[in-house]
Amino acid sequence: MVSTIHAVVLAAGKGTRMNSDRPKVLHECFGEPMVGHVLRSLRRSGTDSETLVLGFGREQVNEILSGDYQSIIQEEQLGTGHAVLRALEESDFSSESSLLVTCGDIPGISPTTYSNFLESYRDSSADLMLLVTELEDPEGYGRVKVADDRTDVVEIVEEADASPDEKNINRINTGVMCGKKDVLEEYLPRLESNNEQGELYLTDVVELMNQDDRTVDYHSIDDTWQVTGINTRRQLVSFEQDGYRRRAENLLASGVTVHDPDRVKIGPWVDVEKDVVLEGDVTVQGECTLRDNVELRGNVRVWNSVLGSATSVVDSTIKSSRIGDNVTIGPYAHIRPGCQVGDDVRLGNFIEVKQSTVGSNSNISHLSYIGDAEIGNHVNVGAGTITCNYDGSEKYKTSVEDGVFIGSNVEIVAPVTIGEDATIGAGSTITDDVPTGSLGIGRERQKNIDDWD
Ligand code: UD1
Ligand code: CA
Repeated sequence: MVSTIHAVVLAAGKGTRMNSDRPKVLHECFGEPMVGHVLRSLRRSGTDSETLVLGFGREQVNEILSGDYQSIIQEEQLGTGHAVLRALEESDFSSESSLLVTCGDIPGISPTTYSNFLESYRDSSADLMLLVTELEDPEGYGRVKVADDRTDVVEIVEEADASPDEKNINRINTGVMCGKKDVLEEYLPRLESNNEQGELYLTDVVELMNQDDRTVDYHSIDDTWQVTGINTRRQLVSFEQDGYRRRAENLLASGVTVHDPDRVKIGPWVDVEKDVVLEGDVTVQGECTLRDNVELRGNVRVWNSVLGSATSVVDSTIKSSRIGDNVTIGPYAHIRPGCQVGDDVRLGNFIEVKQSTVGSNSNISHLSYIGDAEIGNHVNVGAGTITCNYDGSEKYKTSVEDGVFIGSNVEIVAPVTIGEDATIGAGSTITDDVPTGSLGIGRERQKNIDDWD
């Protein structure tokens, strides 16, 4: 009975084959760094902790992932075996726990695949379990050799060290393994770097364990796309394109209309409900939900957001916001992070909304900037309305209560509260609060000068 599973994610390598100044695991697929996908997938699979092994460019990794994980440092990248050894040295994993070792450059493995793998590890009595697959073209991967008379794994041979015969083996090491912590602790210090790459290969523990009659078992996965290891930019874009295509096909099968599957890019962490319609250059990434009957048309980008039922978006960008049901957005709207939008709202042409709430049945239909504002229900924000929320050093809040009518071309110099059912005259610059039910008007009176030429 295995109690605790600690995940260790190897991410210290430079990724020489990327030919880049940034560490490989920060290169993005589906809009996020590869290693971010690995961490999220592990968390959703139910591992008890996740530790990143960082080395090359670790400041960049810390900055981009903003430290939302435990990490240990592998100062010199002496090989994958050394990386796991460093993790064992630096962490205090309990003696009866197990380690799930995976790599920051295999971003496609789903939470279900990890949890099935862990289930099969827990069900077996193996000291070490490998996640393997069979590839038509296994080039570049470690080949997994299985004894003729048993299912046990005998050895993993790395590409660089493989004989021509061994290169013909199709069963490959995905880079994911799970083993008893105590056993790994016993074998990792015995690794030697007498191989083609002069590295301490994690994969060499298999042969060592075998010599001692420890059991090394494997769990196979058929979906080879998931376990693609990314070593080059070519592999990264092919993996990503295949991922988007597969997703589009799955969506079509599950009751979503995707008019042109080659132009629609739906990331792996996006939930799409029934009867959604996607048409045009639609990109939805990060953690998103598109509720039933959402329609996204034209050039639409959605990031980390929830869109309610029957909401429709045309040619617009939405980031880190929650949008209600029956909302219409665009064309050419920019909904920036931190917006909460109620039901039956219209956010129209050429508007920008940032860090604001907009109540139900309100309209901001044309040419507006609304920032740091709380807009109530049934509010009409006229064309060209601008919240002046920033004085060069501080940001200030605008409150617009329920039922307010704001005429066109109004500037609201925050902080300001406009009381319930008030009306603001067109062309006003509002600097003071407007009481409930009153008319606020702040503009020069018109003068007509006769006989002007
Ligand atoms: C590795 C496996 C190979 C497997 C393949 C799957 C080894 C020796 N080989 O090969 O069997 O088929 O993955 O994709 O394990 N890393 C460190 N510290 C190091 C070296 C590497 O953290 O000192 C990290 C890298 O950042 C990377 C991961 O380990 O995320 C794998 O290293 P990489 O050099 O890409 O190994 P592969 O040659 O792909
Ligand atoms: Ca790799």
